Amino acid sequence: MRRTLFLLTFLLAPRLLGAADFKRDIAPIFKSKCYACHSESAGKEKNGYVFDNLERLAGDIRPSGMIDPGRPGESPLMELLTLPEGDKRHMPPKGSLSAKEIKVMREWIAEGASLEKKASGKPSGLVPQVKVAAVEGWTSLDGKVISAAFVSLEGGVVVLRMNGKPYRVPMEKLSEASRKQAEERAAQGP
Ligand code: HEC
Repeated sequence: MRRTLFLLTFLLAPRLLGAADFKRDIAPIFKSKCYACHSESAGKEKNGYVFDNLERLAGDIRPSGMIDPGRPGESPLMELLTLPEGDKRHMPPKGSLSAKEIKVMREWIAEGASLEKKASGKPSGLVPQVKVAAVEGWTSLDGKVISAAFVSLEGGVVVLRMNGKPYRVPMEKLSEASRKQAEERAAQGP
């Protein structure tokens, strides 16, 4: 029980990788509800936002960007999608995402808003099984410590492995020392 609480408070209800996948779950929503006004393919870039060029989209996925990885509640995109329909900032301007689409969008952001394609076949196969790094201590911003192995650092999100399961932790939730640790591990490579 203690351990469960501890993990929950550290990671703010972490989920296993793979509940939402960009290509499978998110891209189709952008395509059907947003591309008409926000895509290079349609030649429409309202307010400079496009959702079909992943390099450009990646630039909007960062703390204080339109999509704050790991923090749907702080992500302006979620606000735009969930404002009442009459609001002039509501997106899309006419109609709305379905409740299910909003849920999967929120999950995807909560999990770190990765644009990476998952390895095919395995539902949670994103984390390569090649080599298991040593378990070491990681400290959150508010001083809690967990023991986990470093897996990867991608787009501001650290993937750690704990009890054989991968967890995504946004860099800004880690102490400065742990952030450095993650950068060092990433630089060391596999
Ligand atoms: C019919 C055209 C249209 C569609 C469809 C549309 N948008 Fe927009 N979007 C706009 C326009 C126009 C603006 C500029 C609004 C403004 O600043 O008044 C905008 C602005 C935005 C912005 C910038 C808001 C800001 O505060 O700077 C984002 C992000 C956005 N849209 C996301 C989306 C998403 C996500 C979808 C799909 C769910 C979507 N839009 C669908 C027309 C559209």
